[in-house]
Amino acid sequence: MDRKIILKQEHRPTKITVFLASMEDSHIRHLIKLARDPSLVDLLGWNPSFEPDETEEFTEAISAFALPYSRKSQPVVFGVYIDTEDFPVGYAVLKGLNMDLLTAEVGVAILDLEYRSKGFGRLALKRIVQYGFDELHLKTIGATILLSNKTSINMTKRTGFAVREIVRDSWPMPDGSMADMVWMELTR
Ligand SMILES: CC(C)(COP(=O)(O)OP(=O)(O)OC[C@H]1O[C@@H](n2cnc3c(N)ncnc32)[C@H](O)[C@@H]1OP(=O)(O)O)[C@@H](O)C(=O)NCCC(=O)NCCS
Repeated sequence: MDRKIILKQEHRPTKITVFLASMEDSHIRHLIKLARDPSLVDLLGWNPSFEPDETEEFTEAISAFALPYSRKSQPVVFGVYIDTEDFPVGYAVLKGLNMDLLTAEVGVAILDLEYRSKGFGRLALKRIVQYGFDELHLKTIGATILLSNKTSINMTKRTGFAVREIVRDSWPMPDGSMADMVWMELTR
């Protein structure tokens, strides 16, 4: 069995701490329950509603990638925890890893509404990016975000990512329309 990874990120001034840890199936099922929220469709650009036992399908969906340099590969998926003894409040993922070019895409979501806008998303993003650079030796981490998702764009900018391109009408939404996407990137 794989070693369980637990990563910690603290914001010293406020003492807010977040942990990233690999998840057992019951924890993914908990996230699936939290993700049954129609307002997420317009933020994520895909429909995160799955049946409780569709853990593989859920993992596959959060690991979908979009950038030209991304490749089909084993994603690195973490639960975002406030308390490692409790259920996760969200997820953080490195996906589409291209180990020839040393690139990947990142995705983060705080699915438990009680824990949104409290700094946990930014800490989780910071930690998974650091993990990608330090442990996986990535050189570039990309992020694709709907242009309308200002919270996520702010969070990603605050973590040091720069806008590489705004790609108009490029993101197929579940209702069949095409949305504008921001391609953001951080290079070590
Ligand atoms: C996007 C998301 C991960 C951010 O995590 P969070 O814990 O809620 O956000 P944080 O408290 O860490 O704030 C991160 C930054 O986002 C911005 N932000 C947070 N809440 C915001 C709000 N309600 N409105 C506008 N900007 C906001 C701020 O710039 C903040 O930076 P700050 O440190 O200057 O305050 C989370 O809101 C989420 O999961 N949303 C739904 C799913 C989603 O959009 N995922 C990203 C898909 S690309």
